[in-house]
Amino acid sequence: MSWVEMKVRGLREEAEGILGLELCPLNDDGLPFSWTPGAHVDLQLGSGLVRQYSLTNLAEEGCLRLAIKREPDSRGGSQWLHEQLRLGSRMQVGVPRNLFALAPGTAPVVLLAAGIGVTPLLAMYRACRAQQRPVHLYYFSRSRAQSAFLDELRTQPDVSLFSGLSSVEIALRLPALLANRQPDSLLYSCGPAGFMDCVFESARAVGWPSEVLYREHFQTHLQAPEHAAANQAQRVQLWLAKSGKQVAVNSGETLVAAAARVGVEITTSCGMGMCGACMTRVVSGEVDHHDQYLSDAERASGEWIMPCVSSCSSNALVLDL
Ligand code: FES
Repeated sequence: MSWVEMKVRGLREEAEGILGLELCPLNDDGLPFSWTPGAHVDLQLGSGLVRQYSLTNLAEEGCLRLAIKREPDSRGGSQWLHEQLRLGSRMQVGVPRNLFALAPGTAPVVLLAAGIGVTPLLAMYRACRAQQRPVHLYYFSRSRAQSAFLDELRTQPDVSLFSGLSSVEIALRLPALLANRQPDSLLYSCGPAGFMDCVFESARAVGWPSEVLYREHFQTHLQAPEHAAANQAQRVQLWLAKSGKQVAVNSGETLVAAAARVGVEITTSCGMGMCGACMTRVVSGEVDHHDQYLSDAERASGEWIMPCVSSCSSNALVLDL
């Protein structure tokens, strides 16, 4: 991964427990990279941790804006950012990556966010508005006090805000919100896994085809899955198509570790199948998925693998590396 040193130019309380962070280039030459709505960045924290956060602003603004919720049970990432950052602090920021891209074009877009999952959807919302593309954002939060970007969102005509609803109440509301789909509409959802499952179930029930449903896990809410360390149980031959290398994967070894033995580095971050950093294209072979990141459709396609945790159920696996 490529890293860029940036400075903190803005810090503000976006909502209760949510830190708004603005990161800008060290000089005024503009960003040395481009990015698109739905992208996230990796932040190197002083404690040696690396964490991913979605970008919320318009790419044309020349800086990066993020919103970070303080997670009491996090492994130290959000707590460090809330407590240690000061105006002028410098940080190593990974070049943005987008694993949740908004499809280009003019098709209407429906966005459903829960909690801090609003962050990538806010970037999509702002981009759609700027392009005069039809969009509607539904934003569910625990309370008004915990709703980020409220000052902006409450003035928008195509935003619906809900706070204080239980998961059962949300589930009861969704079918009506998702009914009457406009032709070609696309649906993007971000929030806790249970919320996104409920959104997709409701959408399918009222006629949305699966191929227009897109989701992103809100990484810092996810707990490491019990099977996250389920590494390769049987001996498999791993072929790396681009580099022309092959390696036998040892029992209990991850595909990332096996590739590293023959000099092929796969970018990783969480190492638990949650962040998407290691997402790799599969050329051939049967994947045994153990991640929390891919959608059902992506898994069924057999095109992608998260090699930090997933393995192979056939004797050979060929990756596009
Ligand atoms: S490193 Fe995060 S999903 Fe593999």
